Amino acid sequence: MSSADVTVVVVGSCMTDLVSQAPRLPKAGETVHGHKFFIGFGGKGANQCVQASRLGAKTAMVCKLGQDVFGNNYLQNFKDQGVTTDFVSQTGEAATGAASIIVNDQGENAIVIVAGANLLLDVEDLKKASLAISTARVLVCQLEITPAVSLQALKMARNSGVRTIFNPAPAAAELDPEFYSSSDVFCCNESEAELLTGFEVTDEEMAGKAAVVLLSRGCHSVIVTLGVKGCLMVSVQDATPKHIPVGSVPAVDTTGAGDSFVGALAFFMAHVPDLPLEEMARRSNQIAAVSVQAAGTQTSYPSRDALPHELFEAGSQ
Ligand SMILES: Nc1ncnc2c1ncn2[C@@H]1O[C@H](COP(=O)(O)OP(=O)(O)OP(=O)(O)O)[C@@H](O)[C@H]1O
Ligand SMILES: *[C@@H]1O[C@H](CO)[C@@H](O)[C@H](O)[C@H]1NC(C)=O
Repeated sequence: MSSADVTVVVVGSCMTDLVSQAPRLPKAGETVHGHKFFIGFGGKGANQCVQASRLGAKTAMVCKLGQDVFGNNYLQNFKDQGVTTDFVSQTGEAATGAASIIVNDQGENAIVIVAGANLLLDVEDLKKASLAISTARVLVCQLEITPAVSLQALKMARNSGVRTIFNPAPAAAELDPEFYSSSDVFCCNESEAELLTGFEVTDEEMAGKAAVVLLSRGCHSVIVTLGVKGCLMVSVQDATPKHIPVGSVPAVDTTGAGDSFVGALAFFMAHVPDLPLEEMARRSNQIAAVSVQAAGTQTSYPSRDALPHELFEAGSQ
């Protein structure tokens, strides 16, 4: 696949998750013995890209890794997932982004994230990817890289008529107003909606009110994901909040469900663009609901083959 065929470009982060399970979290200076250790591929940008790729989008990732074993392994992971790596670079100046996670037997955790190489992704890297960014169907950004770089990517896409999804995660209270005007779909969760609006988003009604405020800041549509309750949306065409429920499923591990949702949405916007956004959100709910039924982050994301074919049809279900 050449980068000219790419339909979904994600400009964002990669993190290696180093997960230790222990009876309890250690105190300062203490060593505890754990009973399980595993390494996983994470980072919001990479997660969203991998989900879109698994559904059949021709994806490219624009990101920065370290020149280390984690960076090398991540590069191979992208190749294994069918993601174009022409715009994945490795730097000797910083380590690959890493999240050291300790989980105790009660399921509580303590996490240290070192963004490392992610923060060295810069506007020069975007220039190298400018052909792919300007000819894609959808561009996706988050906030785990330098915010100015995310904003520049959104603007580059916008200027070429490419549809944009912005996921303001992790949440920041202050967001450059241009993030709103550069977003076709502004997709956040309840805590992000709360931080951005100052509203206490405790229920659907408050989430709807927050969504209307976010919409008024200049994006074309706003989706707020609501966990087990699905999501809600508003758009310039219809600013009345519309709740889109998700079916009840046995949830095992909800880590990365939000990224599965965003990746699925990118797939639908790129490959079934004539669907109403409400229908895309309904189908993205269904895909994210599959992801919560298996352990892990990227490992829990369903592929096209594992999903009902109706999810990929052009008409509404
Ligand atoms: N228990 C669940 N049952 C069914 N679907 C779920 C469940 N939890 C999450 N989902 C699906 O995943 C989507 C995203 O979930 P959520 O709003 O919790 O995102 P998030 O907080 O960004 O997730 P995370 O931080 O865990 O990645 C929801 O809109 C829904 O479609
Ligand atoms: C929303 O996403 C943030 C990451 O930006 C996460 O820390 C938080 O727990 C999520 N909130 C909910 C309600 O799931």
